[in-house]
Amino acid sequence: MGEYAGLGEVGGKRVLVRSDLNVPLDGDRITDDGRIRASVPTIRALAEAGARVVVVAHLGRPKGEPEARYSLAPVAARLGELLGSEVAFAGDTVGESAHETVAALSDGQVALLENVRFNAGETSKDDAERAEFARRLAELADAFVSDGFGVVHRKQASVYDVAQLLPHAMGTLVSAEIDVLRRLTDEPARPYAVVLGGSKVSDKLGVIDNLLGKADTLLIGGGMVFTFLKAQGHEVGRSLLEEDQLDTCREYLRRAEESGVRILLPGDIVVDTEFPAGERTPQPQVVPASEIPADALGLDIGPASAADFAAALADAQTVFWNGPMGVFEVPEFSDGTRVVADALSRTRDHGGLSVVGGGDSAAAVRTLGFDEASFGHISTGGGASLEYLEGRTLPGITVLEA
Ligand code: 3PG
Repeated sequence: MGEYAGLGEVGGKRVLVRSDLNVPLDGDRITDDGRIRASVPTIRALAEAGARVVVVAHLGRPKGEPEARYSLAPVAARLGELLGSEVAFAGDTVGESAHETVAALSDGQVALLENVRFNAGETSKDDAERAEFARRLAELADAFVSDGFGVVHRKQASVYDVAQLLPHAMGTLVSAEIDVLRRLTDEPARPYAVVLGGSKVSDKLGVIDNLLGKADTLLIGGGMVFTFLKAQGHEVGRSLLEEDQLDTCREYLRRAEESGVRILLPGDIVVDTEFPAGERTPQPQVVPASEIPADALGLDIGPASAADFAAALADAQTVFWNGPMGVFEVPEFSDGTRVVADALSRTRDHGGLSVVGGGDSAAAVRTLGFDEASFGHISTGGGASLEYLEGRTLPGITVLEA
């Protein structure tokens, strides 16, 4: 029997742990188990302290009712392999199966409840409906540990409301993530560079806005770059474009110039005439960013830009990266992302801190075969780490501090 920080003695107690086990699946094959591995230390520490551990998590975005393709069953099996002991799986979240599964746990055993988003109360915007679902979750436990960093920006029943009903503590993953992100916001070591990619500018508005006052260099690639290129007056062919963000991008470019922040956009682009899919062999072509043909679409930053980006990162003491530079899943369009990941992995050679900000970038690092240990930190939360850097309050954190 033993203690868990913040909760005191947990031996023999039922402890509900909110983890983020939202992993990519191909059928029922897990293609990247990073989030499951990151959840293990807290679960193991509680089990070793003799708690009866009840893990609650979501997968994908089902619409408040069961959907077989979003079942957490494959995740329960993988979690059991990583823990080295069987994980009991409940076929529902707060129903008969959950109650029976939890009642059958012995001290030190672990159960995983079925996808919490199969219940409309989990994500409801109605406070009373969410609170009612949280009350049913809380019936399954004596204490709550919040360890799903990837969801702390969500005001949802298993993240926020349940913490108000049970004695609670922060898990080791959430506290490690917050410690690192604090180093990016509280007087970061300089030069401070931020690399942003991914498909949409509209997902990154808040973070660009906030970083324009903090970072020294902002490097932009991925699908979102075409809105910036168009804002500079270039034609972008059939590339991804958010017309309604053109004025915002122009404004960012103007503000960057005014405040001395360097925004680096790619000078060359890898294009093709089709988005890579099916059996068709990709036909990549490198063109200047100012001369994207009308029938082409940009799918990666070009080799000269990748080299420029790497050079700009070479002396950075702090680097944050969110969003791939191109369609990294397809080898012909993965070089930009690979070169940027490689540059980040070298930051620690000169004593700097590199942080890979979750989601697709974390998956890219693993898919492209990089050693995770060569990065300062790989976050498990894409949206959550961005919202933290935007300076927004994260409901799943504030509720623990109340
Ligand atoms: C994520 O994938 O970023 C987290 O698991 C949160 O998922 P959500 O964006 O569906 O809330």
